[in-house]
Amino acid sequence: MVFIKYMRTKRWVYGLAFVPFCCSLLDPCGAHEGHDHAVPAIQPAEVYAPSVLPDRIILTWVDDPRTTQAVTWRTSPEVRKGIAELAVAEDGPYFSEKAQQFTAESQALMTDINTAHFHSVTFRDLQPGTRYAYRVGDGTNWSEWFHFSTATAQAEPFSFVYFGDAQNNIRSMWSRVIREAYRDAPKAAFLLHAGDLINKAEADGEWGEWFGAGGWLNAMTPNLAVPGNHEQARSLTGQRRLSHHWRPQFAFPEHGPPGLEETCYTLTYHNLRIIALNSNERLDEQAVWLDEILATNQSPWVVCAFHHPVYSTGKDRDNPALRKLWKPIFDKHRVDLVLQGHDHTYGRTGFAVPGVDDDPNSLPPQTVANVPTGVQQVDPVYGTVYVVSVSGPKMYNNSRKPYMKRLAEDTQLYQVIHLDGETLKFEARTATGMLYDAFRLEKVAGERNRLIELDAEVPERLRPALEESVK
Ligand SMILES: [Fe+2]
Repeated sequence: MVFIKYMRTKRWVYGLAFVPFCCSLLDPCGAHEGHDHAVPAIQPAEVYAPSVLPDRIILTWVDDPRTTQAVTWRTSPEVRKGIAELAVAEDGPYFSEKAQQFTAESQALMTDINTAHFHSVTFRDLQPGTRYAYRVGDGTNWSEWFHFSTATAQAEPFSFVYFGDAQNNIRSMWSRVIREAYRDAPKAAFLLHAGDLINKAEADGEWGEWFGAGGWLNAMTPNLAVPGNHEQARSLTGQRRLSHHWRPQFAFPEHGPPGLEETCYTLTYHNLRIIALNSNERLDEQAVWLDEILATNQSPWVVCAFHHPVYSTGKDRDNPALRKLWKPIFDKHRVDLVLQGHDHTYGRTGFAVPGVDDDPNSLPPQTVANVPTGVQQVDPVYGTVYVVSVSGPKMYNNSRKPYMKRLAEDTQLYQVIHLDGETLKFEARTATGMLYDAFRLEKVAGERNRLIELDAEVPERLRPALEESVK
């Protein structure tokens, strides 16, 4: 009797111990009656909390890529002094003993979920064509050592990668695109983002997703970016203004029109003049600035990047004011390539070919408007190719325009652009790396470029309803 009672007691005791064990291991979903074991969603404030260890490390340029390199990073506010160390990279580990220290410019940023310090250093007087190693920290807590290479003194062939809007589900769905682009062009000289990197201008969690998607790549390959409408927030007075994140976290040139510092700027990389414009505001001031920059440009290739398209791929998304102000300047100076975003589809123009494209419907609108009455020929000096692209998962309808040579819907893309002397090769690739659109531009002395269409690997991707409507 005593034994039976003992066993019952033990069983009861073991049973008590066994029930929670079952709940935790055998019933991890919390489906056990009377228990709710669902794991709560982790919140951005926890995921993206800054610490004393540097994160969001990103290379950019404020000056000549042959002799300078800027780096910016984030820490928690207790880190009051940021330090960067720099040495010429070596094959062995002893380069670090020769490192020089640089003190950062630091500033606080209060966001919707935290307060952080952003630190920025510009390395100057670097040797062209040299691989450097650097790390960032506070003297106690350091990042790993990263490498970057300065541009060579003389122009050499190089590639860069261009992304349209990332904007939504950045961690979940955009990360695969930037990483596929890295697999495709690991030695790209820089990455160019044409606006709407995130969705909510002041959401630090979204910026955390954007930096997380690029990861260490951002610390090894310089980035250039222009702000889209989603990098604009409303001020207390209702005015649209640049996100408070932009300037602390990106170091770009400040030589644009006053008030547009680090959003409107130009850099030269080898034989390419890159012009970044802020299509959100003050378009007329930028038109004057752009004309002046291009009037003195010495680089054979010119690429302009901004967010809102000159030729929209979306119905009711036209930007006539921008086109009226900026396109005549692109025409006047024969800008080679214009890279844009905003429309969440893909669309790429060709050239208007006299005698072939005389149908007004096949020509971009402004080109038609510029043709004098009765003249059956477009200005032969035009030759700018306009591209709209998207890298994130948000997808819109594409209202097919006859002057677009290649279109896409429901397709995440990245673009690799390769420059080699007199030739520019453009490749748009899908999120899985398939060649979706390609062409080559060749310089022809005194004339517009020669445009050579190249074969894609996959058919045009358009929604069935649209395919029906364009037949
Ligand atoms: Fe946009």
